[in-house]
Amino acid sequence: MADDERQRRYREVIGHFATGVAIVTADGADGPVGMTANALCSLSLDPLLLLVCFENSARTLPFVQSAGRFAVNILRHEQHALSGVFASKIPEHEKFDGVPWRAQDGAPVLENSLAWLVCDLREVHPGGDHTIAIGAVAEMSHDDSGRPLVWYRGRYGVLVDGEPAEARLPN
Ligand SMILES: Cc1cc2nc3c(=O)[nH]c(=O)nc-3n(C[C@H](O)[C@H](O)[C@H](O)COP(=O)(O)O)c2cc1C
Repeated sequence: MADDERQRRYREVIGHFATGVAIVTADGADGPVGMTANALCSLSLDPLLLLVCFENSARTLPFVQSAGRFAVNILRHEQHALSGVFASKIPEHEKFDGVPWRAQDGAPVLENSLAWLVCDLREVHPGGDHTIAIGAVAEMSHDDSGRPLVWYRGRYGVLVDGEPAEARLPN
């Protein structure tokens, strides 16, 4: 199988691992910067660590490194359009047009996110065409109301709870 075919197959297979969607933000040279990310996970409880994988070409990565601090904003399902904006390559400052945010413990936190964590960048490791950034959690909070935005097989979805899974399957 050719390399590009194996990559396509890999994306298809790993796409069955449903994830939430976050916007990772940092202070940039001229204001806040950020990008949509789902390659993130909890790493350690003692100490509190999480990791985010950045494409090496992500414009947000050098700002995370220079700021030494970043925020992970976990999105609500209503924020799928915002996810699209932050996944785009429009000029970085335009991503924040009309988006309410605040400086929170040294990182830009989006208002209305379902949950957020502010992290100190601790380590950076190469990972193929990505860079693995490990952050120590400094501050965090969440909102109990609302449902997360879900990414599954290359599409946005919403988590349905409070009903049996069979109810959602076609006959
Ligand atoms: C649902 C979704 C998840 C994504 N996850 C990641 C990710 O974990 N890491 C990454 O580097 N890019 C990820 N991307 C792609 C980036 O958001 C995209 O390359 C973006 O343009 C980067 O912005 P920047 O160059 O301004 O930093 C994801 C895109 C989508 C739609």
